[in-house]
Amino acid sequence: MSINNNKKYKESRRIWATTRAHLEADRMKYKRSGKKSKSHWSLFEKVLQFFLIFMKLFNIYKRGYKNAKNIKVNKIDLYFPDLPCSFENYKILHLSDLHIDSIQGLEDIICEKLNGLEYDLCVLTGDYRKSCQGSLKTILRPMKKLKDCINANDGIYAILGNHDTYLMAEYEDIIDINLLINETVFIKRGNDKIAVTGTDDPFYYFTDQAIIALDENINCFKIALVHTPELYDVAAENGYNLYLCGHTHGGQICLPGGIPIITHQFEGRKFYKGLWKHNSITGYTSCGCGVSGIPLRFYCQGEITIFTLRKGEADIIL
Ligand SMILES: [Fe+2]
Repeated sequence: MSINNNKKYKESRRIWATTRAHLEADRMKYKRSGKKSKSHWSLFEKVLQFFLIFMKLFNIYKRGYKNAKNIKVNKIDLYFPDLPCSFENYKILHLSDLHIDSIQGLEDIICEKLNGLEYDLCVLTGDYRKSCQGSLKTILRPMKKLKDCINANDGIYAILGNHDTYLMAEYEDIIDINLLINETVFIKRGNDKIAVTGTDDPFYYFTDQAIIALDENINCFKIALVHTPELYDVAAENGYNLYLCGHTHGGQICLPGGIPIITHQFEGRKFYKGLWKHNSITGYTSCGCGVSGIPLRFYCQGEITIFTLRKGEADIIL
């Protein structure tokens, strides 16, 4: 639904929050396939703590931690035949998987990288805190600090990931970001417009509302924001032009050559990292800014991405 319809929007948000609260309390993964399975994240985190001791013993920890703080700025031009002329050279800053409390001072590192960069719109594709549970209080200050570093004339639009809680919506005004929860917003330039649709996380908290949001009858250039790549086919079938996501961290801990050991993604796994194409949709899976599980990266650099939209034939052949 469009977020312009105030009464309908508030009712829709109320229903969503009630449903999401129930799903979170259940601590299960609700998948699009209809499967419901237990989340093993807490167990996974405990296993990683043993891994961490091993790393510290062999002094690999320091190197991995330094890698995790070394975030690159990736600038990518994307070509679309259907791009409205007024959006030629439109710049989108994409930040994903901030996990802003995973590394001390991460917000300062990101702010320093953002300094001097130019963009029109900022999108955040989920996972703001390190843990999947617990208080949100620890991330409010760094998130607000980061938000104050972002200078996007067309605003900041954010979606929720599997590490995020429905309570984020209560802090939307405090952090001063606009959440898109199965909702669409329009950005206008003269007579032209583009639509940005954001869904709730489909990795733990899939509901049909995510499909319904992508299925809305919208006739313009469309961008989908989804935490994971797994709704790529739905977005493509519904004529979306661009799909931005994260979640996988590009593997985070990889073998030489960037080969991931774990991606936490089965559906859409082939799109676990970087630029991809499916039929007429172009997608990008960010390696993310932050880290989860353990504060280390190997052979997989964190990233801040700036896309420049250009009118023309798509330039990627995959
Ligand atoms: Fe994440």
